[in-house]
Amino acid sequence: MLRIVLYPHPTLSFEAQPIVRVDVKLKKLIDEMFELMYEFRGVGLAATQVDLPLRMFVINESGQKGCGEEQVFLNPVLSQPKGTEEAEEGCLSLPGVYAPVRRPKQVHIQAYDLKGREIKQTVDGFLSRVIQHEHDHLNGVMFIDRIPEANRLEIEEKIEEVEVQYEEERREGLVGDSAAIEKGRREWLKRYCGG
Ligand code: NI
Repeated sequence: MLRIVLYPHPTLSFEAQPIVRVDVKLKKLIDEMFELMYEFRGVGLAATQVDLPLRMFVINESGQKGCGEEQVFLNPVLSQPKGTEEAEEGCLSLPGVYAPVRRPKQVHIQAYDLKGREIKQTVDGFLSRVIQHEHDHLNGVMFIDRIPEANRLEIEEKIEEVEVQYEEERREGLVGDSAAIEKGRREWLKRYCGG
């Protein structure tokens, strides 16, 4: 069973690795990611947020099961950023933390779906922002890393609350120690990234 990990879980700062094989289990993991995303009212979820060191994320702009379009992106590559736009963001790994983030307005995404079909899309607006936010996760980058130091002060207290929550989860044994986390990661990498 997957669970969403909280900041500063080490996998959130891990650089996820390209997926070289898709199997039934990976499809099940993706189903579970969608379920968690809906349960916690998100519109996107990256694999590193459920402690999987793999380059993939899921999105449903509507945030509601049975509505909108479910999109799975494997090994996404972003290019051709254009323009800038600022809008408020939040993150399921940082519950209660919201802040405006400046990002390119438009980007091009190249990726693969679960059937191995290539996805090539130029996106802007809300979808562009969600894709960039989730793609950042695969590089170990959180949205708070993109906030200028001066503005970070306002959310510092909320971030600390999440850190306290994370420590509690560790004490309760919901999160393993660093050796266990690393071992788990190695197993996933061996299975899906060819070692
Ligand atoms: Ni996030």
